[in-house]
Amino acid sequence: MKIVSIVGARPEFIQAAPVSRALRRKHREILIHTGQHYDYRMSRVFFEHLQLPEPDIDLEVGSGSHGEQTGEMLMSLERALLDMKPDCVVIRGDTNSTLVGALAAAKMHIPLVHIEAGERSYNKRMPEEINRLVADRLADLLFCVTQTAVRHLAEEGIVKGVHYSGDVMLDALQQNLPVARATSTILSRTGLLAGYYLLATVHRAVNTDSPENLRRIVGAFNAIREPIVFPVHPRTQAVIDRLGLSFAPHVLAIEPVGYLDMLMLESNARAILTDSGGVQREAYFLSIPCITLRDETELHETVEVGWNQLVGANPELIITTVRDFMPPVEHPPLFGDGHAAERITDIISNGALEFGQNYDRVAVPAPAQMVTI
Ligand code: UD1
Ligand code: UDP
Repeated sequence: MKIVSIVGARPEFIQAAPVSRALRRKHREILIHTGQHYDYRMSRVFFEHLQLPEPDIDLEVGSGSHGEQTGEMLMSLERALLDMKPDCVVIRGDTNSTLVGALAAAKMHIPLVHIEAGERSYNKRMPEEINRLVADRLADLLFCVTQTAVRHLAEEGIVKGVHYSGDVMLDALQQNLPVARATSTILSRTGLLAGYYLLATVHRAVNTDSPENLRRIVGAFNAIREPIVFPVHPRTQAVIDRLGLSFAPHVLAIEPVGYLDMLMLESNARAILTDSGGVQREAYFLSIPCITLRDETELHETVEVGWNQLVGANPELIITTVRDFMPPVEHPPLFGDGHAAERITDIISNGALEFGQNYDRVAVPAPAQMVTI
């Protein structure tokens, strides 16, 4: 098969690496980079560290408002797909690149595969939630990282073409953690002691579009009496600069780090503070307590089993949770076995993948009758 894989943002490069390797054993894969992320530390570094093949096409769309970015991407991607005529398009996650991949493929009647399907925060104000809703509705084959995600889809009447694959981010982590341990020098470069620091990341719209939330989060970091390493996303850096926020000496704000350094920082942290979806999952894979700087999460089961605590941007809650949070001993495997990419490749290869194959009426209980009074 000729398969087009779409990537554009940091987590997509990481997820693409194991999938690309598995797909290329059986198929011809064409990698399209939308250009959504473009700084060296947000894009190229992942291609280098994960041995991800060079993109065949870079649409070089760059940043913009949601409308500008998705509109430009859609025009460029449509042209590329017209040239390529692939047998299917693979998208992952919930970014604007994911949304555009879904729209372009569906409008061109190309079978669509969505990896990391069925994630739901049930907060429609998140741009990612809108992207997920569209991608899942349009996908012909849907791969879920947890059983909960399979259930979310079923609750929306999406049951055909849905598979529990496990998480390709776990594949990536298992493949790269030994490499990170052998090669990363981030702890000595930063002077951090394994087990004696917190790792923080912040980039979600809820915390960066709201100056108040970012101020409160930075204030909480400054008040915590423990070393914190904080690789800062460019979106967050721009707001920090605009607001003139500063950090106490124990908060080490650094540029975004490459994946291997990030795995090293995560696996040696005492706890992780984050609003990232990927980092919440990696904290779980590594059995590191996770404190989530949001009011809700897609990763409901990590909260239910007691390894993830939601604190929003509430400074008191952040500070007391950092001090007191103690996850239980039980740590059930929620995200599969680290072989998701192979499973996904097998299912794509074995089934006759057809556009619209899962789009049909689903029997649901009859709606309540209207009563005339
Ligand atoms: C995007 C995704 C989000 C994902 C995140 C991963 C959407 C709607 N959001 O958010 O789901 O969690 O990527 O990191 O797709 N910027 C740079 N250099 C870059 C990239 C971005 O300076 O290489 C700055 C620009 O000012 C840009 C801003 O970051 O406007 C936001 O970038 P964008 O890709 O729109 O969204 P993210 O916040 O990165
Ligand atoms: N990551 C990284 N360097 C950083 C921050 C994050 O390599 O400085 C990795 C992280 O380990 C995870 C992925 O990027 O694999 C998560 O991406 P991000 O937080 O940008 O997006 P999200 O997962 O929230 O969509």
